[in-house]
Amino acid sequence: MPQVLLLGGHGKIALHLTPLLLARSWNVTSVIRNAEHEADILALGNGKPGKVSVLLSSLDDVKSQADAQAVLDKVKPEYVVWAAGAGGKGAPQRTYAIDQDAAKYFIASSFATPSVTKFLLISHLGSRKVKPAWFSEEAWKRTQWLWAEGLPDYCKAKYEADQYQTALAAVTKKREPSRKFQSISLRPGTLIDGPATKKIALGHVTAVEGSVTREDVAIVADRLLARDDTEGWFDLLNGDEPIDEAVERVASQKIDSIGDEDVDAMIKKFGL
Ligand SMILES: *[C@@H]1O[C@H](CO)[C@@H](O)[C@H](O)[C@H]1NC(C)=O
Repeated sequence: MPQVLLLGGHGKIALHLTPLLLARSWNVTSVIRNAEHEADILALGNGKPGKVSVLLSSLDDVKSQADAQAVLDKVKPEYVVWAAGAGGKGAPQRTYAIDQDAAKYFIASSFATPSVTKFLLISHLGSRKVKPAWFSEEAWKRTQWLWAEGLPDYCKAKYEADQYQTALAAVTKKREPSRKFQSISLRPGTLIDGPATKKIALGHVTAVEGSVTREDVAIVADRLLARDDTEGWFDLLNGDEPIDEAVERVASQKIDSIGDEDVDAMIKKFGL
């Protein structure tokens, strides 16, 4: 049974995700900053076969790959989930420090740790620079608005981390073809509260105007982690297809939401 390192453990998606992972008899170490939230996290383990523990640690203090590695060395996870983020709130510097820099340090250290076999990062639907063939003009306009006016710092920071994860996954596959490693980028559109609808649009999603509940995002993250054939980018909104059917369809058909993004340019950019 795997040990999961959950970064950003008190985020709303993470709070939904934790009990799902524990129900699989996986152990979860939830990284949170505020000791006042410890009891909330531990309560998620009530009646679950997996064991939840809390690691009090601030991602604001993760200033290098070595800092991230120290967390991995302590927790010794097989799976790493990045559900942290400044959420586009607060000073732009904090968005870059967490969503971009700390995320990249955890991506680097996870790929550098042979015992880690899955890395799932929660990004967002608008995190792309090249219009995918399946996007409508309307959807692409909205993406460009998000970059220019909606959440420019958040878009830049998240895309930087996404590119780094994508580039590292590509070079790792080339250099270590026998290594078992799933690099998963889960990319929900506008997040809303409210109960799961259990129905989604996953993969080549066209209706960018939609939204998705945080609980549905958590369910999809759980399903993607539970399979050994899920890799790449997964765009996600609420939609018409039951979650398990959508995940089965997208995974078995190897549908990747990366579109025409230039992975070679990403590899070059980071000197990998
Ligand atoms: C999960 O936690 C239980 C209880 O502490 C422990 O016995 C078990 O070895 C742990 N499993 C892993 C994979 O760490």
